[in-house]
Amino acid sequence: MVSAVNSFGLMGVDSYLVRVEVDLSRSLPSFDIVGLPDATVRESRDRVRSAMKNCQLTFPAGKVVVNLAPADTRKAGAIYDLPILLGILKSQGQLDASLEGMAFVGELSLTGEIRPVRGVLPMALSARALGIHTLFIPAQNAPEGKVAEGISVYGADTLENLLAHLRGEHPLPLASEIPHTPEEVPPTADLCEVKGQFEAKRALEISAAGGHNLLLIGSPGSGKSMLAKRLPSILPQLTYEEAVETTKIQSIAGCLPKGVSLVQTRPFRSPHHTVTPVGLAGGANLRPGEISLAHNGVLFLDELPEFSRGALEVLRQPLEDGTVTISRATGQVRYPSSFTLVAAMNPCPCGYYGHPTRPCTCSPGAVSRYLSRISGPLLDRLDLHVEVAPVNYADLSSSLPQERSAQVRARVTAARQIQSQRYQGTGITCNAKITAAMLPKVCPLSDQANHLLKSAFERLSLSARAYDRILKTARTIADLDGCEVIEAGHISEAIQYRSLDRKYWH
Ligand SMILES: Nc1ncnc2c1ncn2[C@@H]1O[C@H](COP(=O)(O)OP(=O)(O)OP(=O)(O)O)[C@@H](O)[C@H]1O
Ligand SMILES: [Mg+2]
Repeated sequence: MVSAVNSFGLMGVDSYLVRVEVDLSRSLPSFDIVGLPDATVRESRDRVRSAMKNCQLTFPAGKVVVNLAPADTRKAGAIYDLPILLGILKSQGQLDASLEGMAFVGELSLTGEIRPVRGVLPMALSARALGIHTLFIPAQNAPEGKVAEGISVYGADTLENLLAHLRGEHPLPLASEIPHTPEEVPPTADLCEVKGQFEAKRALEISAAGGHNLLLIGSPGSGKSMLAKRLPSILPQLTYEEAVETTKIQSIAGCLPKGVSLVQTRPFRSPHHTVTPVGLAGGANLRPGEISLAHNGVLFLDELPEFSRGALEVLRQPLEDGTVTISRATGQVRYPSSFTLVAAMNPCPCGYYGHPTRPCTCSPGAVSRYLSRISGPLLDRLDLHVEVAPVNYADLSSSLPQERSAQVRARVTAARQIQSQRYQGTGITCNAKITAAMLPKVCPLSDQANHLLKSAFERLSLSARAYDRILKTARTIADLDGCEVIEAGHISEAIQYRSLDRKYWH
């Protein structure tokens, strides 16, 4: 007899319905899974067989064929253990309950425990979209299941409890009723710990307010890493849509913190400079990489020139499009990767090129070789270039209270609110993402500002991309000021953030 149970597969950040069909026949004992299963799915056979034996269920004596439809998409992971086992029970007549309109995902242990799986949030959302009324997920994934309001989501911890529920003997708790203690988030460091460095702090604020990419360049010990690590403390809250997207990616990557149903804080990823292009872009088992895990947040690359050329070039397309497409022999997926890039670097191998007092010991060739590791196109995509000068003694020893992150964050949030009103319904979230076509409409310039920009464009021979980026940065500076029309002061500050490439990269 043939039975079919609903389950899900993952494709990028979305999920699709998978029908798990099970056919039993009287023939020599065998157990086959078809429908492009990967090695983990094939190993389901052993987990299902042992779980059935250890839960006092009879494994069929004859031939078992499992088909995962649609047959032409690759199925990965251990999520099909549970639907396969239920399909076998249905085909054998060991389970009478109707499974119509229900869907199941879960990995089984050999003793019949239901273990957590990756990607439950996108599955729960697509269950709701597909009209599935009841979804069964592993109890440990219950917080993610909660997000799909409007359908019944049950979290099951063991096969025994799940079967008792399906047989109507003992109901399972709804996912929303399972108590969870979210993991404690360690408090982020505060901006007030950084003494002086007012220009760099201002640039950090502009970057957070408009989502602009930022490059910090300066000598060792000037506080670049310290500043960048405090960026999360001034970033605005995620909107609901952003939170769902970000949580989906973390759910798929399997790095959603325990007990969290929706991520509330913007991601801040800081991969080490030895990261490979695949680690950065994603693609190992078609999973998302660092740039997608940083979606709606910040990707911080400390010691930028130390990253491999391949890794840096990977960033170019996502920085422009906000998505990354990964192609492998096993398939192609697209992940969102709209992040703010923050990079820190020394200006030369010894670190003191351009230092006000300490001489640089590098040869001119060594300096230019070092700087040329950052390609022109990548540099062009960084809106704000900031020189972090060594902090002076007066600032460092001063006991004057510094501005706290909460105060800066309040200004950032106000500027973001202006932006979200301005871009309502356009799909754009912040000034850094404005399209070239929108620029004339959303960046009205005063006459003086227009004049200043024109003369700067001619004098500094700016590229078209630099021109666009100056306008976007000026838009954010004006928003921080609460001005609708961009004034000359906003433009001149924005231009100043593009002057370093001439100092270092000529
Ligand atoms: N502005 C500052 N206020 C207070 N402490 C500072 C400041 N700048 C640097 N420090 C101190 O110096 C240490 C080193 O700073 P940090 O690691 O940020 O330097 P860096 O610019 O990243 O250097 P490198 O180029 O070597 O990576 C910090 O941990 C902090 O103790
Ligand atoms: Mg550093």
